[in-house]
Amino acid sequence: MLNTKNLSPLQLSLYTAFLLSMPISFGFYFLKPNALIALTAFCLTFLGSYLLIKYTLEKFIYRKIKLIYKFIYQTKATLREETYYKYILPQKSIDDVRDDVEKWATQRKEEIEKLKSNEAYRKEFLQNLAHEFKTPIFAIQGYVDTLLDGALENQAVNRKFLENAARNVDRMVTLVNDLDEISRLESGEQPLVRKNFIIQDLIRDVYETLSIKISKKNITTSIKKGCEQPVWVTADKEKIHQVITNLVSNAVKYGKENGNIVASIYQTDEQRVLIEISDDGIGISEEHLDRIFERFYRTDRGRSRDVGGTGLGLAIVKHIIEAHNQTIHVRSKVDVGTTVGFTLDTLKSTGYKL
Ligand SMILES: Nc1ncnc2c1ncn2[C@@H]1O[C@H](COP(=O)(O)OP(=O)(O)OP(=O)(O)O)[C@@H](O)[C@H]1O
Ligand SMILES: [Mg+2]
Repeated sequence: MLNTKNLSPLQLSLYTAFLLSMPISFGFYFLKPNALIALTAFCLTFLGSYLLIKYTLEKFIYRKIKLIYKFIYQTKATLREETYYKYILPQKSIDDVRDDVEKWATQRKEEIEKLKSNEAYRKEFLQNLAHEFKTPIFAIQGYVDTLLDGALENQAVNRKFLENAARNVDRMVTLVNDLDEISRLESGEQPLVRKNFIIQDLIRDVYETLSIKISKKNITTSIKKGCEQPVWVTADKEKIHQVITNLVSNAVKYGKENGNIVASIYQTDEQRVLIEISDDGIGISEEHLDRIFERFYRTDRGRSRDVGGTGLGLAIVKHIIEAHNQTIHVRSKVDVGTTVGFTLDTLKSTGYKL
């Protein structure tokens, strides 16, 4: 049996015309058994119906389908597309056309969903931004107004109010710097300056830089036993310094008094090394784990603001690690502690020589 599924309009017209003319010519032969008359009837019916069906198909169906394709692909008539319409499109059955249109509709739906979520994200971002700025601005406004209203002459409070205002200015400066950093990382404006360095040295350097904060909470910092063997990595040293600083700062901020911060370094394979910073602090509950790398996200807004965070630290960390084409992850348990780990290229894998 002839496969009618993928017939072109021309083939379909020929096929239908043939099916029509056969019984008609047989009818003529049956009424008047004259082969010439039957053949003439066959030829005339075949030709007439062929032309009519082809014209109808072309005009009313095929051209409309072609229009649909032009619309859904939004194409211009380049040579390739003309070839497509001439040779490939006529081979398509109505089922194929429906599949193509459905595929197109699904793609559009996904695009719209993505645009909607971007829009929601943008709105949320602006709300957060306004909120983050409002807090220090109102505080500064309050202190300045109070000082102008007479507190300036009051020796007991004037310095304290100014210091408080200055602290809020610092907070805004940090916020602006962090936002600036994120947008530069996102736009790819800052190319990575890769260097070879020993990761343990960088970690010790960060412990040293943060020693005042660390000792205030009487926290013990260390590199895990068995991980002391120097590991050379190739990465942007400044930026990885910032990553480790942010992670250790978090470990201190959300760590317990007299707690511990441990850095572990594991060579996962020939190419990669995994660096983990662990603390035994308050931990993060499961529902927040997926979101802590988002901008402004804090697990407990009130408590985190008390310790001075804007919720941008981990967003910056993630950007830096992703700019290195590496990955970052977090494991945590409430009241047990948190471990944030990220990977880096080892010196060997990048082909650099010392
Ligand atoms: N080690 C940790 N232990 C417990 N919670 C953490 C830890 N690290 C991050 N978090 C949670 O994740 C949130 C996001 O961290 P992130 O570093 O992005 O912001 P932040 O520390 O609040 O502010 P910033 O780093 O911008 O000063 C924190 O507010 C905190 O709730
Ligand atoms: Mg932080």
